[in-house]
Amino acid sequence: MALQSISTKRSLARIRAKKERQMNFRESSVLPWLLCTCLAALLSAAEVKAETGERLYKQNCAACHHPDRIGLLAPPLLPPFLKRSSDEKLAKTIRDGLPATQMPAFPGLSEEDIAALIELIRKPGKVSWSDEQIASSSKLSSPETSSATPFKDLQNLTAVVERGKSKVWLMEDEEVLDKFSFSGVHGGIKFTPDGSKLFVPSRDGWIGRYDINKGFAGKVRAGVYLRNMALSRDGKRLLVACWLPSSISILDSDTLKPLKIIEVEGKISAIYDLHSKDQAVFTFRDVPQIGIVDTNTMEVSYTKLDEPLEDFFIDPFDRYLVGTSRHGKAMRVVDLKDGSVVFEQEVDGLPHLFSAAVWYQDGEFFFATSHMRLPYVSVWRMYDWALVKKVPTGGAGYFVRTHGATPYLWVDRGNDELVLIDKQDLAVKTITPEPGLKVLHTEFSGDGRVAYVSLFDKEGQLALYDAATLKDLKRIPASLPVGKYNFINKQRRYDPVMLGEQVFMKKCWGCHHPTKEAFGPSFKTIAETRTESEIWAQIVNPEASHSGLGYKRNSMPRIQVSFEEVKALMSFIKESTHAENI
Ligand code: HEC
Ligand code: HEC
Repeated sequence: MALQSISTKRSLARIRAKKERQMNFRESSVLPWLLCTCLAALLSAAEVKAETGERLYKQNCAACHHPDRIGLLAPPLLPPFLKRSSDEKLAKTIRDGLPATQMPAFPGLSEEDIAALIELIRKPGKVSWSDEQIASSSKLSSPETSSATPFKDLQNLTAVVERGKSKVWLMEDEEVLDKFSFSGVHGGIKFTPDGSKLFVPSRDGWIGRYDINKGFAGKVRAGVYLRNMALSRDGKRLLVACWLPSSISILDSDTLKPLKIIEVEGKISAIYDLHSKDQAVFTFRDVPQIGIVDTNTMEVSYTKLDEPLEDFFIDPFDRYLVGTSRHGKAMRVVDLKDGSVVFEQEVDGLPHLFSAAVWYQDGEFFFATSHMRLPYVSVWRMYDWALVKKVPTGGAGYFVRTHGATPYLWVDRGNDELVLIDKQDLAVKTITPEPGLKVLHTEFSGDGRVAYVSLFDKEGQLALYDAATLKDLKRIPASLPVGKYNFINKQRRYDPVMLGEQVFMKKCWGCHHPTKEAFGPSFKTIAETRTESEIWAQIVNPEASHSGLGYKRNSMPRIQVSFEEVKALMSFIKESTHAENI
């Protein structure tokens, strides 16, 4: 509104100025016919400029930025998004493009052409998106595939985005079991906790739904320009963070009907669900606060910060947000409870924390992140927050990925080499899956056996490796394969479970097994018969606890465990109730 009124004021001022010029002419002794011609020329110069802008936009920009400038493959070109960019900066972007992105350079456009384009994109667009519009966009259709897809083991269900063909594949282990069409996928595919449905968001606000038993089930447009999407931990509500309109649309995941639109002021960095509470957390790129949505009441509360938290992830135990601030120049750890900063350090080269990898090694938790502009991965120890090492990778990359079943961090570095960093000693080696094909992103099957690597090219491939031995398992032709999302790895509730499994292997295995009795009772039995505080007490102090649990003698030694190790173990012990025969 404010912007519109400013531009209205500007155009009123322009009209007034024109009128004044007109008056001056009248007062002068210039011949009336000359006056007419001049005015006509004056008016048409502005019109010509506007027309030039429209025409050039249609020809050169609309395909990526959308005919209505509401954003498609590329961000919207509308005043709210360009507020902080000067005309000079916009001109430079248009003339030279944005390196390392899909924004091309336009060396063929003249300065006047560029000025006309800037004038156009400074004009307010026609953007509104109401709950009626959401509801009427909804297309719950009869399934594209008629028969049920024969998945055997949901944990190894992985969705693969093939951008070049606008397809999403559904894979189990090494096989592609189904494909459906969906374009502009952006911001992460989400699975319901029971694995019966998955949701695919697109950059221009569409959310597609795939039902495991039926196939592609329909879609709804939740906004005009989407940032990302979270699913409440019970799987019942979709929370769609949008930049246009600036809002979080909450939809019923079953009917795809809008339940509530929460308006926000600012550009949301991302929204993620918590696994420990019925909440989702979001931050802003440009507003110093954390927002928390209660996924039951759909109310939002805010915690103030002193700086915006831009690109972030939530630690596996839902306690801290680890993010960048000061436009990517500082890394910060913020306590989710009260917004207090528990750690801050200057960093270079834009860490890509949305896709940081977390792992457990020899009693400690670590995370690693790429820096989008520098050729290394930085490795940090968590909870006492210390930079362990900058590991040179030979090129700037985006993604660091790992799984408990692989000894490596799998890192891309902008060329055809895949960098593998040993988690034990941080030694680096590289493999070249296919000379000339750019390595992009790695995902793992839920059991961690298979690593899927995108070889990003129009004539690209999905390369499948044995994640432990690096044996080349299989190649599948794919056009511009990008993100891949495994059912287990992409659900936050499994993060502590998988880390807990690592702690168990290191500190409890041998005496305890998940479901079978060993020297001590099975975790399954423990989870079924004890309270969380009983389990906690026994882990940290068996001498004091065993008799309370009914043991005459204590044979379990006191084991050094940190608070986070016990948290992780607790998740793993609880999850053992679903396990069989291990
Ligand atoms: C091939 C796709 C493509 C085309 C064509 C294209 N752009 Fe872009 N443009 C992008 C992408 C992608 C970005 C975002 C880059 C990034 O990640 O920062 C972008 C970013 C921009 C930005 C910066 C936006 C901001 O918020 O800072 C401007 C301005 C811009 N484009 C203007 C134009 C204009 C004007 C044209 C036509 C002359 C055009 N673009 C054509 C893909 C495209
Ligand atoms: C050296 C063998 C040994 C190791 C290692 C060990 N335990 Fe135990 N644990 C036992 C035995 C034996 C008992 C039975 C009670 C006792 O002796 O105190 C037990 C009991 C327990 C119990 C209570 C059982 C009940 O009846 O509810 C829990 C919980 C437990 N262990 C958890 C762990 C965890 C978690 C670890 C790893 C951090 C671990 N233990 C490591 C041997 C071990």
